[in-house]
Amino acid sequence: MTDLRRRFVEQLRRNGAPLTPELAAAFAAVPRELFVAEGFQRRDGSWARPGAAGFRDAVYRDDVLVTKVDGRVAVSSSSQPSLMAIMLEGLEVGPGDRVLEIGAGTGYNAALLAALGAWVTSVDVQADVAERARAALAAAGVEGVRVITGDGYAGAPGETFDRAIVTVGVAGVSPHWLAQAQPGPIVVPVEHAGTHPVLAVHGAPRGPVTATVICPSGFMSAAGPLTAAHPRSHPHPVPTGALAAFAPVTPPRWDPPLGSYAYRDLWYAAGVWSGRATHAALPDRDVSGVVLLDEQGAGGAAILPDGSVLAGGDQAAEYGDQAVLIVDRWEAAGRPSMREWQITLQLTGDPQAPIWAPAAWSLRPERPELA
Ligand SMILES: C[S@@+](CC[C@H](N)C(=O)[O-])C[C@H]1O[C@@H](n2cnc3c(N)ncnc32)[C@H](O)[C@@H]1O
Repeated sequence: MTDLRRRFVEQLRRNGAPLTPELAAAFAAVPRELFVAEGFQRRDGSWARPGAAGFRDAVYRDDVLVTKVDGRVAVSSSSQPSLMAIMLEGLEVGPGDRVLEIGAGTGYNAALLAALGAWVTSVDVQADVAERARAALAAAGVEGVRVITGDGYAGAPGETFDRAIVTVGVAGVSPHWLAQAQPGPIVVPVEHAGTHPVLAVHGAPRGPVTATVICPSGFMSAAGPLTAAHPRSHPHPVPTGALAAFAPVTPPRWDPPLGSYAYRDLWYAAGVWSGRATHAALPDRDVSGVVLLDEQGAGGAAILPDGSVLAGGDQAAEYGDQAVLIVDRWEAAGRPSMREWQITLQLTGDPQAPIWAPAAWSLRPERPELA
């Protein structure tokens, strides 16, 4: 193990990644730099190329590495490693398991799975991305991973798996994954209130299908029927500058404000209780968070981490009241974590290519042990 990778593993641990000895060994063994052989885009939009000063240090940070853009939109990346660790832990993968991965991207996650002893078939919709992933896996000497090109909605036709992991944001679960990957789980980031909480999904292709939340996340969205709209879809995240001015409705109620995890829990509950909850940046404030978006898409109400509510637009009073009720309800329920919800999924979306999407939620009677 290089010092760089040893420090990388320590950093992941400090950032709260649940590293079993096997997972720590996998992160220490797989050379992430070989999976970004053509470089990645820095936050300022410039490209970091292999061989440039600081390239390897940047690769071994707990950060997303964007590897392909279409205009200004990221269309492929290596995900944040601490998030990958949480998802891999949720997958409960062991030596000899057969794993379906949707979203091959750089191939790095598939290489980690192989280092954990799994056999992997990974699907990517972009042929050039799949080809680069194959080349990277070969360069790193990884065995036991097959990369195929196609829309991940179909999974890997003709193959069967023990579990599946989806590394791109979707609106619901393909019945093909449920048919191919048993007993599961299927670990998958599913749209909810403008973000992608990662779910552990179990069920049969014809149902019933249920899920619990593993962790919050924000992924790029999948192409094709996996992101079809459905009756329980929340509005898309609101671009900066689209909202009217918001004015205070109620003052702060928490000092100090909620930390980022508790705020995500409140945000999740807002998505359960309002079909209008989504992610937005507020005008004139350096804040982005959960907003109940009005039907015009220009106003509504925001809930801030200190519990205050702001509202704006033509229906400010109505949306402001709804937002206050959500905060009251979350408080009265004992501030449930997103991991306390039991989710029932329903078959919906494109009738030609249906998906199982979250449709009903209840709080589990037993509080799961929260880390
Ligand atoms: C965040 S990247 C995946 C990260 C990857 N697992 C890694 O370790 O680098 C998401 C990938 O999903 C792919 N994707 C988007 N829509 C898809 C679809 N419908 N089917 C399969 N792959 C898809 C994109 O081409 C992109 O490469």
